[in-house]
Amino acid sequence: MENRKVIVTGGNRGIGKGIVLSLLENNFEVLATCRDASTFNFTHENLIVSSLDVSNRSSVELFQTEVDEFEPDILVNNAGITKDNLFLRMSEEDWDSVINTNLNGIFRITKLVVKGMLKKRWGRVINISSISGSMGNPGQTNYSASKAGVDAFTRSLAKELGSRNITVNSIAPGFIETDMTEAVLDQEVIDKIPLKRAGTVEDVASLVNFLSSEESNYITGQTLVVDGGLFMK
Ligand SMILES: NC(=O)c1ccc[n+]([C@@H]2O[C@H](COP(=O)([O-])OP(=O)(O)OC[C@H]3O[C@@H](n4cnc5c(N)ncnc54)[C@H](OP(=O)(O)O)[C@@H]3O)[C@@H](O)[C@H]2O)c1
Repeated sequence: MENRKVIVTGGNRGIGKGIVLSLLENNFEVLATCRDASTFNFTHENLIVSSLDVSNRSSVELFQTEVDEFEPDILVNNAGITKDNLFLRMSEEDWDSVINTNLNGIFRITKLVVKGMLKKRWGRVINISSISGSMGNPGQTNYSASKAGVDAFTRSLAKELGSRNITVNSIAPGFIETDMTEAVLDQEVIDKIPLKRAGTVEDVASLVNFLSSEESNYITGQTLVVDGGLFMK
């Protein structure tokens, strides 16, 4: 079988970079994006990098040609932002930009790939959400709403595409050490995590690899939590 092809949005740093490096190590071919492709500080013979702003419709439309040429089997919707503030201080602009990037972005990029997966009768959509979407977090009404939306999108799309052998799942990380959490990760937070440490990008990447493999064939519509036990239902 030829190497599977994966698109990873937001692949230049943080969790996305961890996912890209780990997929490359496992012989996937990867098309990784971020807003400015010149910020990628690593290369690989099986890696193509591309500029894409998931919050911008014209940028997404331009990306369609690259998707059609690449013919992905797997999509990892990882790009995301936070714009935290207490609800009474949160501007409509910050609400809109988080929903537009984290939720509308996933709608736009998934639209680009699903037709090709339907033709192949095989596909994987892996959305990176957050435990904030299930447990809530003060200062994150916009972010929590966007991630809860991602989980709900995941379930409905899984039901639409299941009969065509396309699985759709989301991964909900807890606190993972990246630029996004630099300002909020302190000892008080760590003390609340049963495993007593923040997560690494590799902790998330290993689950992406599992969901991209044949071993996960019978898992769809799920939100899988990677948080050291912080949020238990
Ligand atoms: N870190 C955590 O603890 C944590 C926990 C739960 C969920 N998550 C989720 O995991 C994902 C990755 O987070 P991270 O911690 O790795 O964040 P990060 O270090 O801040 O990286 C964010 C990534 O998203 C990309 N991105 C942001 N806005 C974009 C846009 N409009 N178009 C295209 N790419 C865009 C960034 O690219 P640029 O370089 O172009 O900005 C970057 O590659 C996010 O969806 C986040 O919500 C993270």
